[in-house]
Amino acid sequence: MKIAVIGCGYVGLVTGACLANDGHHVVCIDNQKEKIDILLNNKIPIYEPGLEDIISNNLINGKLSFELNIDNAASNAEVIFIAVGTPTDEETGNADLTQIYNCTRELAGVLKENALVIVKSTVPVGTCDEIENILNEKNKHQNFKVLSNPEFLREGNAIYDFENPDRIIIGSDEDNIRDVVKEIYKGRKNEQKIVFTSRRSSELIKYASNSMLAMRIIFINEIADLCERVGADITDVAKGIGLDKRIGPYFLEPGPGFGGSCFPKDARALIESGKKYGAPQTLLESVIKGNESRKKNLSKKISEILDIPSENKIGVLGVTFKAETDDMREAPSLSILPDLTNIGLNISVYDPAGMEEATKLIKNVKWVENSYEVANDASCIIILTDWQEFKDLDLNKIKNAMKRPLIYDFRNIYNPDNMKKLGFEYYSVGRG
Ligand code: UGA
Repeated sequence: MKIAVIGCGYVGLVTGACLANDGHHVVCIDNQKEKIDILLNNKIPIYEPGLEDIISNNLINGKLSFELNIDNAASNAEVIFIAVGTPTDEETGNADLTQIYNCTRELAGVLKENALVIVKSTVPVGTCDEIENILNEKNKHQNFKVLSNPEFLREGNAIYDFENPDRIIIGSDEDNIRDVVKEIYKGRKNEQKIVFTSRRSSELIKYASNSMLAMRIIFINEIADLCERVGADITDVAKGIGLDKRIGPYFLEPGPGFGGSCFPKDARALIESGKKYGAPQTLLESVIKGNESRKKNLSKKISEILDIPSENKIGVLGVTFKAETDDMREAPSLSILPDLTNIGLNISVYDPAGMEEATKLIKNVKWVENSYEVANDASCIIILTDWQEFKDLDLNKIKNAMKRPLIYDFRNIYNPDNMKKLGFEYYSVGRG
């Protein structure tokens, strides 16, 4: 099939690359020239394991191409995915739909007959209706269809998630699109995974999924806090809870608070939708408040155990919002690091993928090349993300390089007994 994907962010690029890999002819479109130039040079503008190879192979075999302008690329496509960003509108907390409506207006007038417009961006209920209205006003062919098809991939696992979805949600008020959708997703083996719903339900499924996951994380974080007070171990507690099939084992890892481009933004947007339609999302309001105060209080945990003036050099491992990404959006490091630099600490920081972006956002720290440099003469190392390379460190070497062998691990990547044996003062989350 001839497919156009508008938006070359995580969702758009992965969608375009994987569908090209399935044999479709895909053109990915983005209005940022810098991004398109990088892509045409066989590089990718984001860090996502495995993506560069798929893009490169499909550029070479001619299945994938990149364009700056919508009109030319989209006018030939049978299917157009919209995968542009819907960031938080800082004033209202709602999703900012400017990019969605801008590209819809560009699409109007160029859609070919029977085109399918598939909205992959996370959008509030009713947005697909509005997109349809805009297209109806302007498009010369009126027999296009607008579908909602939210994406559930995680950054860092994006290719795997796209290839192995738990479900593919298709929201449409039309019955005769089923075969086309199956053809688009023919590379995904199990057809049972395609679930057809109304457009409005589909739009809401995405927000409710992310919000439910965010809720689990804040819940387990608060239970971890209680574990610390009462001498219980969160690893055992989470395992014990998760063995109940009704609950399940996933998303029960405590940490420094959730971040990223999705959970905080989507939870806030769902709260606003609740207000708009008179169905308050009070639980979610507490989730957002609890998560924000957790991130704000991270530095307090460090100052509780450090005698700050005499221990003035500390190290930080990981600054992105989680491992396997270069994404800094709403990362816990953006709360803790400014607080610690304000106290006057000298801080050395290392991240395997996020430093380029992080240097623009975090000032007054020293960026170093690896974890061992972080450890040099440090009185404390703070772990903020669980990259495999941090798990694999030579801990004896780390200990010998440090002035005081103290680690505050906000991701529980080491075994406390082992750390004690190695001679560390070791603090982690919810493990006594
Ligand atoms: C999230 C969803 O998991 C995806 O399904 C969804 O498609 C995506 O948002 C989106 O809407 O685009 P992502 O933001 O990439 O994916 O990150 P996650 O892996 O879900 O992690 C989100 C945050 O929760 C991170 O800060 C992570 O460290 C934290 N987390 C996750 C925990 O603290 N504990 C856990 O057990 C799991």
